[in-house]
Amino acid sequence: MTRPVPSVRFDRRRLLVTMAGAWLAGVFTIAGRAQSTAPGKSKIGVIGSGRIGGTIGGLWVKAGHPVMFSSRHPDELKSLVAELGPLASAGTVAQAAAFGDVLFVAVPYGALPQIGRENAAAIKGKVMLDACNAVASRDGAIADEVEHDGIGATSQKYLAGTRLVRAFNTMSYAIFQREAHRADPKLAVPIAGDDADAVAIAAGLVRDAGIDPVVVGKLADARRFQRGGPGYGQSVSAAELKQKLSLTP
Ligand SMILES: NC(=O)c1ccc[n+]([C@@H]2O[C@H](COP(=O)([O-])OP(=O)(O)OC[C@H]3O[C@@H](n4cnc5c(N)ncnc54)[C@H](OP(=O)(O)O)[C@@H]3O)[C@@H](O)[C@H]2O)c1
Repeated sequence: MTRPVPSVRFDRRRLLVTMAGAWLAGVFTIAGRAQSTAPGKSKIGVIGSGRIGGTIGGLWVKAGHPVMFSSRHPDELKSLVAELGPLASAGTVAQAAAFGDVLFVAVPYGALPQIGRENAAAIKGKVMLDACNAVASRDGAIADEVEHDGIGATSQKYLAGTRLVRAFNTMSYAIFQREAHRADPKLAVPIAGDDADAVAIAAGLVRDAGIDPVVVGKLADARRFQRGGPGYGQSVSAAELKQKLSLTP
């Protein structure tokens, strides 16, 4: 009997098919799980999953939101999403931009023009929370534009078509990590945007992260809490922040 060879061939083929299936299932699990959304929860796409994106996105996962974290190298996010559990997934920037009903961008400011350009169709009309700060030594000439035009107008220009809300830019990720969900009075963050519904959605997500939102005004008012502004670097309660920014209590 000379059967062993075909049988080995068959087994090898079956093994290869099984392995390919398992690999594909893995890929689709990484990019595609957490598709269903519980009532009151939003699908959130995080663009830039470093210190601030990873921290705030993690707080949203803990609040029950499905979050897709993205990177130009999504494989490197495996341990982050594994730690956060089944509501967290990882994908490319394009996948996260498509996944999120709400988007959170936390990348070096100089990357915004490219992100806005490459994902123009996917981000159009979506609520976009923007935590990016412009730092001349890192981001180059765009920091001058921010200084001149204000950060709200500049972000909106490069993230065209989004319902932009500035949020989570004023403090270190380590403070957010440590102080989120602390006992009252909670830590507060200033937010600002031109679209009232988008600001309300952003305020709800700030609360879900365990922090008090303080609405400072329109995008033009985001200048008041960009780097160098009076609201920047203030690790204080909502009442104290309103006082510092002369807002009505
Ligand atoms: N760190 C803070 O405490 C803090 C607080 C408030 C605001 N911010 C602001 O938030 C932004 C992010 O700061 P961070 O400290 O979180 O930085 P980070 O830890 O270096 O993370 C930034 C992420 O952006 C991604 N990225 C870089 N260039 C990109 C591009 N061209 N396209 C897509 N993704 C890109 C990188 O992901 P891959 O390389 O994996 O693609 C990286 O993981 C900055 O604007 C910063 O000023 C930071």
